[in-house]
Amino acid sequence: MELRELGKSGVKVPPVGLGCWAIGGWRWGGTDVSQSIATIQRAIDLGMTLLDTAPVYGWGLSEEILGRALEGRRDHAIIATKCGLVWDCEEGQFHFESEGRRVFRNSRKERIFADVEASLRRLRTDRIDLYQIHWPDETTPFEETMEALTALREAGKIRAVGVSNFTVEQHLECLRYGVVDSSQPRYNMLDRKAEKSVLPFCRKRRIGVLVYSPMEQGLLTGRVTLERTFPEGDYRAQRPWFQPHNRRRILEFLERVRPIAEGHGKSLAHLAIAWVLSQPGVTAALVGARRPEQVEHNIEAAQWRLSAEELAKIDEELAWLGKPQ
Ligand SMILES: NC(=O)c1ccc[n+]([C@@H]2O[C@H](COP(=O)([O-])OP(=O)(O)OC[C@H]3O[C@@H](n4cnc5c(N)ncnc54)[C@H](OP(=O)(O)O)[C@@H]3O)[C@@H](O)[C@H]2O)c1
Repeated sequence: MELRELGKSGVKVPPVGLGCWAIGGWRWGGTDVSQSIATIQRAIDLGMTLLDTAPVYGWGLSEEILGRALEGRRDHAIIATKCGLVWDCEEGQFHFESEGRRVFRNSRKERIFADVEASLRRLRTDRIDLYQIHWPDETTPFEETMEALTALREAGKIRAVGVSNFTVEQHLECLRYGVVDSSQPRYNMLDRKAEKSVLPFCRKRRIGVLVYSPMEQGLLTGRVTLERTFPEGDYRAQRPWFQPHNRRRILEFLERVRPIAEGHGKSLAHLAIAWVLSQPGVTAALVGARRPEQVEHNIEAAQWRLSAEELAKIDEELAWLGKPQ
């Protein structure tokens, strides 16, 4: 598998990584631990060695499952986790409420120092390859946050520093106080905000970009049919594009672009992944999965890039599709 460096950090990642949010169960209607462990181990076997998680994914559960799955395989994995979202104290910038917990953005130095220890414990390791600020905390100066992350890197607890959900201005502010090796924006065919902002910025500054939700949480695979229902606690049921009238339009859009995938012997899931990987500035796609078969399927998109004509045809069909109604 071709590897790409995140900024100048020396941390090298494959073009497709495993997103471990759904593995934590929270907002995805629960989890199956042994199946999740099998999924992670299969991903590593196939070269999908970049594993993205966060403390908030299942209130620690995603990191714990990852730690269990990596016993004896730690050296084959690139662990990317995050800091900056807390649910055990009401300090910082209020972010959201879920399952009776109030979650705050908190990137204060002392908090990061405590959180990194908790993540290392759950992940059963002595180092994190990429440590990312999950969401910008406007109540803490970025100078303080970057000082904390620089100190952690110097102490060998983290190898690279990343940000997620940051604007270009927020990246610039961080860069005044330290090194940013990667950025993690949301990006897929249906949500293209990053290509006018973070993608060109990071490309110019040689900052790696790991894009999240490349398949719009499974919608772009074509497997979310009109009949598909979601269990209680799976928040996709509330998202605009998942509403039946919008699903109908998405399914029609997918039929219009399916010949591009089929022309290469690929699936719609592959097309969604290859589409993000074909965009300038994208280092890797973080693709969520909870079953080994999904990982086996998704890895096949890692080497596929779309031609200019194919990208133009998809643009044309996206213009036909428009926005969710
Ligand atoms: N930084 C942030 O704020 C942030 C936010 C969101 C996500 N992320 C990261 O990005 C990762 C990926 O994003 P995501 O999980 O939101 O969305 P995604 O990758 O677009 O979609 C993942 C979902 O698609 C379905 N799927 C996977 N492979 C499939 C296949 N071959 N065929 C059909 N369906 C398939 C699975 O759901 P079902 O099987 O349940 O249908 C899976 O959980 C996350 O896990 C997380 O690591 C970060």
